[in-house]
Amino acid sequence: MTQFREDAAAVADWVAGYLEDVRGRPVLARVEPGEIRAALPASPPERAEPFAAVLRDLDEVLLPGITHWNHPRFFAYFAVSGTEPGILAEFLTAALNVNAMLWRTSPAATELEEVAVDWVRQLLGLPEGLHGHIEDTASTSTLAALAAARGLRPGGAVLCSEHAHSSVDKAARLLGLPLRKLAADAEFRLRPDALAASLAEGEAAAVVATVGTTSTTSVDPVPAIAELCREAGAWLHVDAAYAGSAAVCQEHRWALAGVERADSLVVNPHKWLFTPIDCSVLYTARPGALREAFSLVPEYLRTSVEDVTNLMDYGPALGRRFRALKLWAVVRCYGREGLQALIREHVRLARLFASWIEETPGWAVVAPVPFSVVCFRRECSDEENEALLERVNATGEAYLSHTVLDGRYVLRLAVGHHRTTADDVRRAWELLQEL
Ligand SMILES: Cc1ncc(COP(=O)(O)O)c(C=O)c1O
Repeated sequence: MTQFREDAAAVADWVAGYLEDVRGRPVLARVEPGEIRAALPASPPERAEPFAAVLRDLDEVLLPGITHWNHPRFFAYFAVSGTEPGILAEFLTAALNVNAMLWRTSPAATELEEVAVDWVRQLLGLPEGLHGHIEDTASTSTLAALAAARGLRPGGAVLCSEHAHSSVDKAARLLGLPLRKLAADAEFRLRPDALAASLAEGEAAAVVATVGTTSTTSVDPVPAIAELCREAGAWLHVDAAYAGSAAVCQEHRWALAGVERADSLVVNPHKWLFTPIDCSVLYTARPGALREAFSLVPEYLRTSVEDVTNLMDYGPALGRRFRALKLWAVVRCYGREGLQALIREHVRLARLFASWIEETPGWAVVAPVPFSVVCFRRECSDEENEALLERVNATGEAYLSHTVLDGRYVLRLAVGHHRTTADDVRRAWELLQEL
C-alpha cells in the first residue's frame, strides 16, 4: 500500500497542477488523426510497469491529444465542468467499485441515488413524488422513457420538433418506432398547431418536448404540448438535458412550466450542474411503466429482500456505476446558493457577449438568448463564417462550435465552465474580431 499512497499523492498533485495550468493549454487538440495511436505501443507490455509510467505518458503522449473540456475557454457544444468535488468523488467511486444493480449489491449506493435525485428534484422545483434514477447520458434516459411509452402503445409514433436532439431519432430507431419531426416557429420552438395536426394523423406513443434545444436553447411550449398529449393519450417526455439545471434559479423556473404534467423528464447534471460526465437523471411520474419495460429478474439476480428499489429495473443496463456519489458531493459542496451563483454568472456572461455582438455593426445575434448560449454570425457568407470559426479554434485560445439555422451557418458560444470569467468571454470576442 505504500506504493499506492505514493501514486495516489502523485495523481492528486497531477490533478491539482492540471486544474491550475489548463488555462494555458490549447483548448482544442492540435493532433492529426492517428498521431496519438502511432505514439503508443501497439502491443501490451509483458512485464508490469509502475503507475508513474502511466502518468508520464499521460503528460507526454496523451495530453497533446486531449481537447480540454475542463478549460474555462471551452465554449463549444454545451460547455461543462468537472468540478473539484466531482473529481474527488469519482476517485472514491472507483475505490469502492460497487455495482449498484440491486439494492443488496450496495444498499448505500441505491439509497444515496434516491436521496441525491430527490435533492436535485427539490433544487429544480419539480413536483414531489416523482421517481428519479441516474443513467449515464440523456441518450439512455430518453431511450428508457420512450421504451416505457412504447410498452403502453406499441407501434405508435414518436413526435418532436425539428430541433429535438438526435438522441430522440436514435431512440426511435432502436425501438423500431416511427418518428415524425415537426416544423418549429420563428424562435425554434415546437408549434402546438403542427403537433395537433400530426397527432390527428395517427396514433402517437410519445411526444418529446425540449426545454433548451441543442442549437439555440429554445424552449418548447410544454403546457400546450402537455394538454395535447393528454387529449391524445400520448406519453410526454421532456428533454431538459441542458436547461433543466437553470431551474435552480427562481428566475429560470418558467422554462419548466408544464413539466408537472409530463410522464418523464431528463436533466443532465453533467451538462450544467457541475458534475463530471457521466450523470443524467431521468424523472418519471410512471415508474411502473419503466419497470414494465426493463424489469427482468433471472434466478441469479433474485434476492429475498422486498420493498426495496433495484435500480436495474429502470433502464437498459444491469451493471451501474455509483454515480450518485459525485452528484451528492457536488450538491453538498456548492449548496443551492453556490449552484445558483454559477448559473447566474453564466447567463450574465452569455448576455454580455450577446450585447457586444448586437452593438457591433456587421455582426448579428440570430436567436434569443434565454440561458447561456449565444447563436451569432458575421454578416457575410457561410463559408467566411466557417473559415472564421476555424481560425479562432486554431489559435487554441478558445473553442467554439456551430450550427445551421434557417439554412445559414451560425456560430455558437456556450458558457458553462465553472471557472469561466468575463475576461475569457472577452478574449473569445477579441479573437473573433481580430481574425
Ligand atoms: C437537448 C439535448 N438532449 C440530449 C442530449 C444528449 O446528451 P447525452 O450526451 O447525455 O446523451 C443533448 C446533448 O448535447 C442535448 O443537447
